[in-house]
Amino acid sequence: MANTLIVANWKMHVSLKRGRELAREINNESTITGVEIVICPPFTHLKVVGRQLTDVRLGAQDVFWEVRGPYTGEISPKTLLELGCTYVIVGHSERRTHLAETDEMINRKIKAAFKAGLVPILCIGEALEQRERGDTLQVISEQLKLDLSGLKEIKELVISYEPVWAIGTGQPVEPADLEEAARYIRGFIEEKFDPKVAGQVRLLYGGSVVAENVLDFLNTDGINGVLVGGASINLTDFMNLIRQSQNRIQDK
Ligand code: PGA
Repeated sequence: MANTLIVANWKMHVSLKRGRELAREINNESTITGVEIVICPPFTHLKVVGRQLTDVRLGAQDVFWEVRGPYTGEISPKTLLELGCTYVIVGHSERRTHLAETDEMINRKIKAAFKAGLVPILCIGEALEQRERGDTLQVISEQLKLDLSGLKEIKELVISYEPVWAIGTGQPVEPADLEEAARYIRGFIEEKFDPKVAGQVRLLYGGSVVAENVLDFLNTDGINGVLVGGASINLTDFMNLIRQSQNRIQDK
């Protein structure tokens, strides 16, 4: 069985000093098999955090689509590689909302990440009004279509389904709704890409995941892991969540 993937998205929550400590603590406690842990700190923390990690992978929270040039404030995929990143989150809803990131920009970022040899973690998901209108699957479909446009080789891709209304609200998706979304996303990939690839793309759930509910999502058909925001910046909460995931693997 492939490893369960657990991605910690620290967002802008953690100071450099705390980031260094937290990374060391997570790394030291993470002698866990069957679970692949990725920490995504702010850009400014990547080097320091990366130095603390041996068994845990490093990821970034964003990337630019060009490798070099006059792009003030942006980060090259090559620089992320130099800093030791394996993964990069692309298209998080907080960037779509606060930074007006479009699907076209996200598409370019995914292509640039792949080209550089980074594994993109593409975030998709509907807003509350869209869910209430019954448009969830249509929104997902539109995002996938635009974000993955022109891509041929996507077997390394990670997709994180994250309904916007579930992020940071303490109100996660219902497992039955997650299962429906997971089935839909896999069906989409199967139809648009090589069907063999659909099974290899890893699919995560993100949105108010904590130790107490992580098994609901990991036990949902088609889900390979979780993306964790709030519960990843407290050592006890995060390690509890990881231990739950590990117990599930041992119970199998
Ligand atoms: P949360 O964030 O776990 O704090 O809801 C999840 C996310 O960033 O997708």
